[in-house]
Amino acid sequence: MSDLQRLLKESWTLVEEQQDRLAGYFYARIFLRNPAVRDMFPMTMDVQRSRLLGAIVTAIQAVDDPERFDEYLRGLGRDHRKFQVVPEHYEVVGKALLDSLRTFARDQWTYEYDQAWRDAYDVIARKMLAGAESDCNPAWWHAEVMSHERRSRDIAVLTVRPIQQLEYRAGQYISMESPAHHPRVWRTYSVANAPRANGTMDFHVRAVGVGWLSGALVRRVTKGDMLRLAAPMGSMVLDRRSTRDIVFLAGGTGLSPIKALLDELTSFNRTRWVHLFFGARDRQDLYDLPYLQTLAEAYPWLSIVPVCSHDRGWGGEEGTVAEAAARYGPWRDHDFFVSGSPAMVKTSLRALAQMQVPHGRIRYDAFNDH
Ligand SMILES: Cc1cc2nc3c(=O)[nH]c(=O)nc-3n(C[C@H](O)[C@H](O)[C@H](O)COP(=O)(O)OP(=O)(O)OC[C@H]3O[C@@H](n4cnc5c(N)ncnc54)[C@H](O)[C@@H]3O)c2cc1C
Ligand code: HEM
Repeated sequence: MSDLQRLLKESWTLVEEQQDRLAGYFYARIFLRNPAVRDMFPMTMDVQRSRLLGAIVTAIQAVDDPERFDEYLRGLGRDHRKFQVVPEHYEVVGKALLDSLRTFARDQWTYEYDQAWRDAYDVIARKMLAGAESDCNPAWWHAEVMSHERRSRDIAVLTVRPIQQLEYRAGQYISMESPAHHPRVWRTYSVANAPRANGTMDFHVRAVGVGWLSGALVRRVTKGDMLRLAAPMGSMVLDRRSTRDIVFLAGGTGLSPIKALLDELTSFNRTRWVHLFFGARDRQDLYDLPYLQTLAEAYPWLSIVPVCSHDRGWGGEEGTVAEAAARYGPWRDHDFFVSGSPAMVKTSLRALAQMQVPHGRIRYDAFNDH
C-alpha cells in the first residue's frame, strides 16, 4: 500500500461511523453553494441511497495509481455528461467533500490527510474532465423499447433501439434511465449482444429487492416506451490478438456481457477453446440456458457447464461457479472473464488466485450496488 493510500484509508476510519450524517452535511454544503445542482439528483433522495459521496470515496480509495485507472476515469467523466456536470461543479463537490471530512474528523484531522484527499480528488477530477471534454458523442441517447420479455419472476430481457447510432464494444456496459418511471435515476447494465447492423441492444435485468430502476425495468416498462442511455464503459472486452483459450465465469444476469463476448466470438473464432461456467441459485435462474446449449451445439469450440448453488435434486454441478471451474482445471494458460454480483466476483477472484491464474489474465467489472 502506498503512503497516499494509507493516509486516505486511515483518515476515512476517523469518520466512517458517522457516514450518514457526513453525507447529509456534504449534500447540504453542495446545494447551499449551488442550489441548481439539486436538480441533477433523483427527486426522492435519501442519504442512504445517494450514490455520489460513496462513489467518490470508493474511487479515491481504490485509485492508488490513477494512471492505471485512466481509462475508467475518462469513461466516468464522459458518462457524467448525462448529469450535465460542468467543470465548476467539480470544484463545488471537492470543496464540500473536504469541508465535510474536516468537520467530522474534528481535531484528529491533520494537514497530511487534507493534502492526500485534495491531491487524490484533483487527479481524479482532472481525468474525468479530460474524458468529458474529449467526447464528441451526445451526452445521452434516446432509445425505444422494441421488445420486453419476462424470463422468470425477477428477470426480463429487453431489446432497445437507440434513435442515434451508439457505438460500443461487446462486453461493455452503459447507464440507463427510465424518465417516465424514475427521472434522474441512472443505473448501469451490460449489453448482452455484440454490435448489430440495426443498432439494437439486448439487456438482461434482474429486479432486486426494493430497488428503484431494476424493478421498473422488469415489471413496468413495456414495448414502445422510451429510455435514455449514456456512454458505454468497461474494460471487459476481447483481446483478439490473444491465442489463449478462454474461461467465462458468469453468475445470474452477469451472463449478459459474457453473452455479448460469445456473440463476438461466433463471428471469427475457429481456434480458441471456450468454456462457460454459468451459475445461479437454482434451475429457474439459469434463465438463458436453452439458448446457450443451442450455441454449444452449433460451435464445437464452446462448452457450457451450468452450476446451481442451492437446488436440491439438481443433477448437475453444485456450489459456486468458481468451485465448479476448479474441478475442471488446471487453467493456468487461459484468459478469464468474470461477471456477476460483487460477492460472486470477489469469491471467484480468490479462487482463481488459489488456482494460480495470473491476475493480469483476468477481466472483470463488478456489479457493485452503490
Ligand atoms: C458494471 C455493472 C454492470 C451491471 N450490469 C447489470 C446487468 O447486466 N443486469 C442487471 O440486472 N444488473 C446489472 N448491474 C446492477 C445494476 O446497475 C443495479 O445496481 C441494479 O439493477 C439495482 O438497481 P436499482 O435501482 O433497482 O436498485 P437500488 O435502488 O440502487 O438499490 C440497490 C439495492 O440496495 C437496496 N437498498 C438501497 N437503498 C435502500 C433503502 N433506502 N432501503 C432499503 N433498501 C435499499 C435495494 O433493496 C437493492 O437491493 C450492473 C452493475 C454494474 C456496476
Ligand atoms: C471525483 C469526482 C467524482 C467521482 C469519482 C464520481 C463518481 C460517481 C459514480 C461512480 C457515480 C455512480 C454511478 C452512476 O450513477 O453513474 C456517481 C453518481 C453521480 N454523480 Fe458523480 N463523481 C464525481 C463528481 C461529480 C460531480 C462534480 C458531480 C456534479 C454535481 C457529480 C454528479 C453525480 C450525480 C448527480 C450522480 C447520481 C447520484 C444518484 O443517482 O444518487 N459527480 N458519481
